[in-house]
Amino acid sequence: MGCPFDQVVDRRNTACVKWDGVLEAYGCADLLPMWVADMDFRPPETVVQAVTERAAHGIYGYEYRPARFSQAVLNWYKTRQNWEIHPDWLIHTPGVVVGLTLAVLALTEPGERVVIQPPVYPPFFRVLEANARTVVQNPLVEVEGRYVMNLAELEEIFRSGVKTMILCSPHNPVGRVWSRAELESLGKLVVQYGVTVIADEIWSDLTFPGVTHTPFANLSPEIAQQTVTFNAPTKTFNIAGLYVSNGIIPNPGYREKVCQVMERLSMGAVGFFGLIAGETAYNTGAEWLDRLVAYLEENARFVQAELAKRAPQLRVNKPEGTYVLWLDCRELGIPYEELNQFFVREAGIAFNEGSAFGPAGLGFQRMNIGCPRSLIAEALNRIEKALAAL
Ligand SMILES: Cc1ncc(COP(=O)(O)O)c(C=O)c1O
Repeated sequence: MGCPFDQVVDRRNTACVKWDGVLEAYGCADLLPMWVADMDFRPPETVVQAVTERAAHGIYGYEYRPARFSQAVLNWYKTRQNWEIHPDWLIHTPGVVVGLTLAVLALTEPGERVVIQPPVYPPFFRVLEANARTVVQNPLVEVEGRYVMNLAELEEIFRSGVKTMILCSPHNPVGRVWSRAELESLGKLVVQYGVTVIADEIWSDLTFPGVTHTPFANLSPEIAQQTVTFNAPTKTFNIAGLYVSNGIIPNPGYREKVCQVMERLSMGAVGFFGLIAGETAYNTGAEWLDRLVAYLEENARFVQAELAKRAPQLRVNKPEGTYVLWLDCRELGIPYEELNQFFVREAGIAFNEGSAFGPAGLGFQRMNIGCPRSLIAEALNRIEKALAAL
């Protein structure tokens, strides 16, 4: 049997935004979609089977959340991330961004300043701005081809009275998996200045072989009390359309506040397909995931090596995890505002526009490599051809 990740599955006309939404988003239908962060892979077969069996039952009434779903979550984080989560800490939301929003509503006031680290996942801006919070930017800095946090500036920000931060760990789009030492340095500041951290750890299972994710809240009991974490099986197992995610809130006061906002919004339910898929994935998907991350790392290596040979004007840092690459296009000589449409028109590829990740992203494009290698090879051919015609 060949590698399951090499299999090209036609996703068109399945109501998926990545393939079916390109016309609306880019004004052109026939593009290689390397934007929205989901993968063109089937989840573990056990997950497909479990969902299929439930679908075949044919009655789709209200869901009941069995304790065994939470147990699967707890076992997973204990085994994979060495994180002992107390069952009381766990809540469930229909998505990580929903969770971030709930935490922002529950733990900050309108007008309050909240710090984020661009270039970063665009909804971090949106969640804050749409809820009348003030975005404070603490941009990452590139040091010897590697993005790091600017902790000196961050300390100044905390000193100026900012009390809340949204942390992206691992980091989308730069592909950093923050080391324990880096997170400990951050943790020290957070404790010193009494800052609440809303940690988005949705990418935490997608670290490359040999790279370890450290859950921020697991650094110390003190940090745990100041941290609200969101993670999910959705990115990990490619089941984002099933809307299920976890909130881990060790601080009972924070937990109560977040749950109150959920209640106010009448938001408690998670669809049962998500519960069934998530539980099955956590219980049976470890081996599949190990193969997946090895495949993704090879995809990243492939892009890097081929770009170096065939399109050296494009630069990409080696990621430590995720399946997004942060393409530095500043040497192409194309006005930054036209980059995205250049790739659309001349290469037939849909990337995410870099400036959506904050002003620090101008001149960059984000490339999704969560797809069979043959599609990556096709993209590289198209890029090489487009650049040759420049
Ligand atoms: C950092 C980050 N958080 C959250 C999400 C999406 O989470 P959800 O679909 O569960 O809202 C993504 C998706 O790309 C992401 O990159």
